[in-house]
Amino acid sequence: MVPDSTLGNLTALWAARDVAGAKRIVTSEDSHVSIVKAGHILGLPVERLPVDASRALRAVQFNEDLSDAALVLTAGTTAVGAIDCLTEPRRAAWVHVDAAWAGPLRMTKHSALLDGTEQADSVAVSAHKWLYQPKESALVFFAQPDRVAQALTFGGSYLAQPNVGLLGSHGATALPLLATLLAWGLEGVRERIESDMVIAQRLADRVQVEPELQLWGQPRTGIVVWRPRKGDPLQLRERLQDAWVSTATINGEVWFRSVATNPLADPDRLVDAVLNAIGVRHTNSTD
Ligand SMILES: Cc1ncc(COP(=O)(O)O)c(C=O)c1O
Repeated sequence: MVPDSTLGNLTALWAARDVAGAKRIVTSEDSHVSIVKAGHILGLPVERLPVDASRALRAVQFNEDLSDAALVLTAGTTAVGAIDCLTEPRRAAWVHVDAAWAGPLRMTKHSALLDGTEQADSVAVSAHKWLYQPKESALVFFAQPDRVAQALTFGGSYLAQPNVGLLGSHGATALPLLATLLAWGLEGVRERIESDMVIAQRLADRVQVEPELQLWGQPRTGIVVWRPRKGDPLQLRERLQDAWVSTATINGEVWFRSVATNPLADPDRLVDAVLNAIGVRHTNSTD
């Protein structure tokens, strides 16, 4: 366990460098900033490939020789929740899947979205996202844990146990996650994530029928990207206070971004609040 996927990604790329000899990182232009940070820390140049219209990396883009590279694929990009092509066989020195957001979908009926993840050398997942944990809680998985542990373990005469990975002293982060898994079981986690996916789709459907609103694209992993057709989304966001929206810039344009992690989130209420804020009389008020 690690405190967050930023450190999960760093740990995985550290292994890519020291276990597999990766000399560079190849990733998409939409991958998380933690990949660039890891490159800086590890002294590995980061090459960012362009994404397609759905903001994902397509298989055809991996044709170059990747035998000296760590290929980082994202399962659930931060801005729009896109999933890079995970299934194509490829010959990178190391393949890391940053599944910080969408990883837990593997436990649900949407599991096929993550097909190919099992071929990766490492996978990072944030438990404080779709495993409903308080911060700081994340996991990094390795296909060959023993080989990786050997490379990432450091001892010292004063240490009762050697340090595995980046952390020295740290809290018992696994306990709240263990408690959640024992209390809810796999079925409980699955139900909540699937319900979040339904909420995201309800929001997308409602946005699509409102003439004053624009949907960026169908949500793939519970992240809905949308905005009013007129007005400045940033200014509007400020007026909405604690509404269920953040913003993301895509191709230089600002959009609303609603991430489905709250089982109590009400899409109609949110859309009504936005329509009210832009001075349009709403149709489906639930207030
Ligand atoms: C795709 C992706 N990777 C990594 C991270 C970093 O995760 P954390 O906040 O757990 O450090 C995020 C966070 O938003 C993310 O969306």
